[in-house]
Amino acid sequence: MSEQTVHRSLLRMGLRSRKVPMLSSTKSLSSLGKETVNSGESVNVTLLASWSMLYYKLEVQYCQQPPVPQEPERWKVVSSVSPESLVDEKWGAASVSGYLSYPRFFCGRLVECCEENALKSTAFKEDLNNKLFGQHLAQDVIFRAVTGFMKNENPQKPLALSLHGGTGIGKNFISKIIAENIHQKGMSSKYVHLFESTMHFPHNNLVPLYKDQIQSWIRGNVSSCPRSIFIFDNMDELHPGLIDTIKPFLDYYEQIDGVSYRKAIFIFLSNAGGHVINRVVLGSSKRREELKLQDLESVLAVEVFNNKDNGFWHCNLIDKNLIDFYVPFLPLEYRHVKQCALAELRHRGLKADEELASLVAKEMTYFPKDLRIFSDKGCKTVSTKLDLRLSG
Ligand SMILES: Nc1ncnc2c1ncn2[C@@H]1O[C@H](COP(=O)(O)OP(=O)(O)OP(=O)(O)O)[C@@H](O)[C@H]1O
Ligand SMILES: [Mg+2]
Repeated sequence: MSEQTVHRSLLRMGLRSRKVPMLSSTKSLSSLGKETVNSGESVNVTLLASWSMLYYKLEVQYCQQPPVPQEPERWKVVSSVSPESLVDEKWGAASVSGYLSYPRFFCGRLVECCEENALKSTAFKEDLNNKLFGQHLAQDVIFRAVTGFMKNENPQKPLALSLHGGTGIGKNFISKIIAENIHQKGMSSKYVHLFESTMHFPHNNLVPLYKDQIQSWIRGNVSSCPRSIFIFDNMDELHPGLIDTIKPFLDYYEQIDGVSYRKAIFIFLSNAGGHVINRVVLGSSKRREELKLQDLESVLAVEVFNNKDNGFWHCNLIDKNLIDFYVPFLPLEYRHVKQCALAELRHRGLKADEELASLVAKEMTYFPKDLRIFSDKGCKTVSTKLDLRLSG
């Protein structure tokens, strides 16, 4: 049966315009375990059940995901499929089974699948080189760390990256590039999870609850997709007790309660160490592009380890060597800010207006006060400054 025939048969079954959303791994921890089936219309239960079964089969068989042993549950279907649309020709069922015989046919079409080895290293490198400005060290370390890790079919532990530097210089941006190159939907993927300290864990008195939630969340999602990515943003604000809670997942264990975490990626973002990095870049006799990771990595680790003001560093992730790479982000200069403005224009489908980009870059403030070399906010606010210029 041709792919077209199969597609047509599904259309006849009324599935064309009816999106059947799955409960995805919503980014809010508070929704854990609270999902309910909302049937909307009165739906023939048997038909709904068969549709659910089909859906389940598709994702479980062709997306090669092991069943999820723990919460969060993923298989509750919110459906507005009418009974009539499913009561179709006899050959409907045959078509569906034909569909089922196409391995991975649905992946990327109706369902998002957990790919084990989706990373294309050439495209990844191009993205890093073309999209990220002024961060040769981060580009290099992240490229080698992520491609090496993804190529290894039996990693000893999950990959743990700790990204450091001042504000607006690309820490979240590079995390997005990593996510997009591993999971098709990037940051919107149900396999990519972003935790923001102040948003997700705001109350100190709820730390024990947050600990349970983080553990369940990681366990449930890694069970569902071993290549899950967890990004912990704004580590500086994280309660000291919380990060210890994920320590077992980052360690060299083969399995914990039947789940292996070794293929997951953990990314920690923080401003800690930013001043040290800036000092080294400013004080070095080397040109910026000649700076090597060794010039920064050790001072960064020491600074981060000694900084008792934030939660991450006096936990035992560091002294147990569970962080694989400390990645320094350098402060951005005028020329990088200008590149950001040009990239933003391109992103909006506008022509590359050098003059406009220069105007925007000149509007930013720079430090140190006397030399005015590095942008105080990196490329943050470039986009809003462009808005102003374009509307004026
Ligand atoms: N090095 C860079 N190359 C290209 N674009 C960048 C770079 N740094 C920042 N940008 C642009 O600026 C935006 C803000 O940067 P980003 O969110 O990555 O900053 P950050 O380092 O996470 O800062 P913060 O510590 O304040 O969270 C990005 O979405 C991106 O558009
Ligand atoms: Mg950020």
